[in-house]
Parts: sequence; structure tokens; C-alpha cells
Amino acid sequence: MTSEHATDAVLAQDMLTQDTRDILRVDRVSVTLSGRRVLDEVSFTIGAGQFTGLIGPNGAGKTTLLRVILGLQRPGSGQVAILGKPRDPRRTPIGYVPQKVLLDDDLPMRARDLIALGIDGHRYGLRRRSARRAEAVREMLHAVDADRFADARVGNLSGGEQQRVLIAHALISRPRLLLLDEPLANLDLRSGQEIISLLARLTREQQIAVLLSAHEMNPLLPVMDHVVYLAAGRAASGTTREVVRSEVLSALYGHHVDVLEVGGRVLVVAGPDDATMADAAGAG
Ligand SMILES: Nc1ncnc2c1ncn2[C@@H]1O[C@H](COP(=O)(O)OP(=O)(O)OP(=O)(O)O)[C@@H](O)[C@H]1O
Ligand SMILES: [Mg+2]
Repeated sequence: MTSEHATDAVLAQDMLTQDTRDILRVDRVSVTLSGRRVLDEVSFTIGAGQFTGLIGPNGAGKTTLLRVILGLQRPGSGQVAILGKPRDPRRTPIGYVPQKVLLDDDLPMRARDLIALGIDGHRYGLRRRSARRAEAVREMLHAVDADRFADARVGNLSGGEQQRVLIAHALISRPRLLLLDEPLANLDLRSGQEIISLLARLTREQQIAVLLSAHEMNPLLPVMDHVVYLAAGRAASGTTREVVRSEVLSALYGHHVDVLEVGGRVLVVAGPDDATMADAAGAG
């Protein structure tokens, strides 16, 4: 083999490793709803063990993008691949914690029952012994630190406790990809931080790929490997340092935006002529 061929082989090998490590690939996805282009050629990838923040102001298209990945919304153009193949939810279970989950106070369901509902018949087999199901639920309760309220009614749990149960529900079928839509929206600072560090630990331990949407990026800065920043349907992606810069975000928003770092926090601030612009990162 000539040295040139050897180099080719090394490059091909590199590309192979790269590809198989990509759990999610979103390729030039566009969506138009009621005549409005909600997503415009959005592309990014997420690898195993990677924590990605999907950041953007209200109406930026975060939920729409998650729905496309889940197969609940057909894109007008573009593709979604999971583990290198076109998305097939039967073969590649995706964990999902939706933005709006209303758990009625009177719902006669314990935390452990709700988690058990997440057990995927395809994966575990419908005849899976109930003892093994109960064991899987116990492991999951422990993983999300929810043992102490395992037998409480879900409707009576606090927002942070419910969030843990919903994460366990989404993870019990061992998905490679976990999507969470604004899981921090109704949590106080401390509960939010606990959920974030819990997710960061599970991402590493289970080598899953996590995509978490939020309009506030500061709580995610300590754990976020990558950011997909959405504004007006368009996306910039990369490491936080690559994306959260004045030039990049100004181009994305289509007008001047300043990025300030104050005491370890990042603030995204609109120019003086558009002071009311939704602040994607600043508040909170
Ligand atoms: N079914 C629909 N028909 C028409 N427009 C829609 C539909 N669903 C969403 N939209 C619009 O698409 C845009 C993006 O909505 P989306 O829910 O994805 O935003 P988001 O980033 O999740 O916002 P938020 O932070 O408020 O949750 C919004 O302007 C919304 O009004
Ligand atoms: Mg949303």
C-alpha cells in the first residue's frame, strides 16, 4: 500500500468513527406552517454522550424542531437520521419529555406507575415478567433520585419532582436519544440546577445524546457541550464559544446583537433600536 492509500484509509476510518458516533443528524430541515416558514434549512448533529442546548426565544421553532425529530411533524424538505439511518421510531426509541404535561391532582397514579408506563413493549417484549418490570422501575427511580416519592400521587408532586418522574418515564426504555422541551420552565433555580446536573450525569453514564430546549442558556452553561441557537427559524450550531458571539447571532437575528459576559453569565442584548427584542439568554 502506498502512503497515499494509507492516508485515504485513515481518513475513511475517521469518517466512519465520526458517522457511527453521531446519534442524531438533522439535515437542512425546513417547515412551513400556515404559510410561514417556521424552520429554514436547519442542520446539526449530536453524538453519543453529548449534551446539546436548543436555545431560542418564544416562537423560534424549538418545539416544531423537536416534533420533526420525533416524526410528529413532516418537514417540507430535509431529513432526520438517527444512528446513520432515516428515523424509524420502532427501531430507535426516542425519549421525549414534552413542554406541556398536565398531571391532574386527582390522577390515581403513583410516580412508579407513571414510570412503568414508559416501558416500551417493542423493546422489552409485552410478556416481560412483572418482577423484571418492577426492578427496571426501581433502578430508574434510583437513577433520577426519586425513591423517596415513588409511592406518592404524581399530581401531588412538586414541579421538580414531577420533572424527575417524567425523565425516568422517558429513559426507562433506554433510548439513545433524549429530547426535552423546556424542562426548566416551571422550576426554581435550585430544582433547575438539580435537574440539569442529573441530566448531565445520565448523558455521560448512559452515553445518550441529549437535546434540551430552553430560552435561557445560563443554567446550561456548565454542562452544555454544544448549542443549537434558533432565531426566526434559522439555526447556528457548534460549541457555545463558537456560536454565542455577536457576529454569529447578529447574522442569525438579521440585526445587531451584543453578547456580554458578566460574572460567568452570558447576556444576549438587542441593539438600541430594537430594545424589546426577545432576550434569548439574558433574563432569569
Ligand atoms: N400548527 C401550527 N400552525 C401554524 N403555526 C404554527 C403551528 N405550530 C406552531 N406554529 C408557529 O410556529 C412558530 C414556532 O412555534 P414553536 O412552538 O416551534 O416555537 P418555540 O420555539 O417552541 O416557542 P416557545 O418558546 O414559546 O415554546 C410560532 O410562531 C408558532 O405560532
Ligand atoms: Mg416550545
